[in-house]
Amino acid sequence: MDGNGRWAADRHLPRVEGHRAGIESVRDSVELSARLGIEVLTLYAFSVENWKRPPAEVAVLMGLLKRYLKLELATLLANNVRFRVIGSQAELAPDVRAELDVAQDKTAANTGMLFNIALNYSGRAEIVAAARRALRAGVAPDELDEARFAGLLYTAGQPDPDLLIRTSGEMRVSNFLLWQIAYAEIWVTETYWPDFRARHLLEAVLAYQKRDRRYGGIKEPAVVGR
Ligand code: IPE
Ligand code: MG
Repeated sequence: MDGNGRWAADRHLPRVEGHRAGIESVRDSVELSARLGIEVLTLYAFSVENWKRPPAEVAVLMGLLKRYLKLELATLLANNVRFRVIGSQAELAPDVRAELDVAQDKTAANTGMLFNIALNYSGRAEIVAAARRALRAGVAPDELDEARFAGLLYTAGQPDPDLLIRTSGEMRVSNFLLWQIAYAEIWVTETYWPDFRARHLLEAVLAYQKRDRRYGGIKEPAVVGR
C-alpha cells in the first residue's frame, strides 16, 4: 500500500491525511477480495524499515490500525474473514497488540478468506527467523527442503501469492514476502493507494487472468485429434 504521502502532497495536506484516506481503500480491497473468492489477501501495512519515519507519523499509523480493527471486526466476522498478522508483534505497543489479538482470536474459526496484515514485517528477517527456528529444532541439514523451510515462515500452510500488486508506480519489492513471491505475477499501477478502489483491484485481477504462467517451463502444446 504505497503512495499515501504523495496523494496527500498533491492535495496540500499533511502526509497523515493520506494514511487516513487509505483506510477506505483497505475496506474496498478486503471486501472485493472476499467477494471474488480470493483465498488469501496480504496487505503490507508497516515494514521493519518504516520505524525510521517520524514518531508522530508512526503513531498515526498505529492509531489508524487500531481504529480500523475496532470498526471493521464486525464486518470481517460477517464476511467469514480470518484475520492474521505476519511480522514481529513483540516490538508493537501493548495496546496495538491487544487489538490485534482480539481480531485474530475472534476470527480464528472463520473459514472464508484469510486476510494477512504484514506489520513490522521484513522478508529477510522472516527468512533468518525461519533458519533460526530450524536450527533450534535440530532439523538435520538433509531433512531441510523447500517445503519444510516454507513451513517455518509466518505464512506456514498458506499458498504462495499468485499476484503481487504495487501501487504508486514504484518498481521494487521493498522486502515483501521475498521467499513467497518467487513466481508471483507482478502488477504495478501508478494509482496511489488512497485512490486504489475495487475497480483497480478488478483491473489487476483481469490482467492477471491473461498472464501465461510457466514457472520456468514451456507452454504446454495443445492436444490435437483425440
Ligand atoms: C504507504 O504510503 C504507507 C505506509 C508505508 C504505511 P507512503 O507513506 O509510503 O507514501 P509515499 O511513498 O510517501 O507517497
Ligand atoms: Mg512510500
